[in-house]
Amino acid sequence: MPVIRGQRRTRGSKGAHVGPMRHLGDEPQQFEVYTGEEYGWAFKPLYYSKNVPEFTTDPATGHVPIPKDCRPPALILKDLDCLRVLGEGYYDQVYLARVNRREHPLDIPAVFALKSLRRRDYRYPNISVLGYPPRGHFPANCIPGMDEETKLIVEEHYKMMNGEKCALVHLPWSPWVTGIYQAFHDEERLYMALEYIPGGTLRSVIADTWTKNGRLSVADAQFYFANIVLALEFLHGCELVHCDLKPENILVGGDGYLVLTDFGRAQWAENKISQWQGIGTLYYMAPECFPEVSPKPQDEPYAVDWWASGVILFEMLTSNLPFCGKTYEETRKAILFRRWQWPVNFKAGKNLNDVVSYLLAPHSSQRLGRHSARDVEKHAWLEAVEWDKMDRKGYLAPFIPSQQDITKLWHKLPLPKQHYVPGLKVIEPPIHLKNDDRFPCHTHG
Ligand SMILES: Nc1ncnc2c1ncn2[C@@H]1O[C@H](COP(=O)(O)OP(=O)(O)OP(=O)(O)O)[C@@H](O)[C@H]1O
Ligand SMILES: [Mg+2]
Repeated sequence: MPVIRGQRRTRGSKGAHVGPMRHLGDEPQQFEVYTGEEYGWAFKPLYYSKNVPEFTTDPATGHVPIPKDCRPPALILKDLDCLRVLGEGYYDQVYLARVNRREHPLDIPAVFALKSLRRRDYRYPNISVLGYPPRGHFPANCIPGMDEETKLIVEEHYKMMNGEKCALVHLPWSPWVTGIYQAFHDEERLYMALEYIPGGTLRSVIADTWTKNGRLSVADAQFYFANIVLALEFLHGCELVHCDLKPENILVGGDGYLVLTDFGRAQWAENKISQWQGIGTLYYMAPECFPEVSPKPQDEPYAVDWWASGVILFEMLTSNLPFCGKTYEETRKAILFRRWQWPVNFKAGKNLNDVVSYLLAPHSSQRLGRHSARDVEKHAWLEAVEWDKMDRKGYLAPFIPSQQDITKLWHKLPLPKQHYVPGLKVIEPPIHLKNDDRFPCHTHG
């Protein structure tokens, strides 16, 4: 069964109710992955009218009974099994979790990407760890006896962790962004159940292509760049700046199209750039993001993401970074003071050179895309792209991930110890998988 990303679903928030759409039997068939997508109850109303008996008239009284909520109850953490580690980030890990509940006819073994965050880092009075306000700030005076430096660290954690959930909950669903279904917590951690995106990261696409045949073709790079443009258009349209755009935070969907993830550093555009200086990953940071550069009133908030997109485009085409030094300091100086150059063995056409120059313009007030993604879409290098067709995913992607059932592959990364994730049951893979060479990811960490 193909992994399909649908057009509509219920967005979960704060224990929001989501439920699966169909009963597929207790045993999943081999090579089928039910993504959390199918857990959207609004997905197939026809199914309900055919299969849910609650709406029928009572023949004795002639009454139509008030229908019971036919959706399964909201998931709790105990309903999920941790099957594998999908990736690791700076603070914590992202797990693949599968629904183990079979109480309701509509319960299916859907899988989610469960991003975990340590609670310990911000367990302080007056802070509601799962709380709001969405754009709120950590009240600096609410932790008595804490020194200034610790306050700053805690504030940073609070903004990042809470900010990610809030940002995701507030975004409307889009095929370009990993949606959030629900949030959970146990004694140790918070967990965000995100849509599982099966094709790995853009980083792995770039790395694999370079290992196999040397380079990502200009046409392929153009396809991926056009995906990034549409993703940024959506995000900026919601007044959110990603602030940490890099290939590791861009996932490849089952259809080969890109999906943005990791909103841990995302900022609302209404906040001043000076508040988010120093945020991001060094090689992808725009000059105005460095704390030593004093922000100017004309700095455009969205321009930092366009800078990062320029770095990614350069990287896709050349497999080099435009600004890279041996140390932090060297890289910082390269970004602030040096002009980027194409590698000697790479011949860029006039339009390509032009688009990269404008995306990597040192001043944000001259950067392409600063006002609107439409400016990027209209650039001559992207002339051949039919944007409507791209938006409805009408092009064939250069790489379509294989549809093996990830729950049946051997593990690349070791599973977490049970006490790290006390509320989430860690399921050890069956030992026979270790000797099963049908599957390519066969290593055990
Ligand atoms: N929805 C998802 N589906 C599949 N894999 C995912 C998903 N979200 C994250 N991953 C994997 O986990 C890795 C880390 O995720 P993410 O970037 O969100 O966390 P992080 O880097 O720890 O966050 P932060 O930078 O805020 O610390 C990703 O690079 C990717 O490999
Ligand atoms: Mg990340």
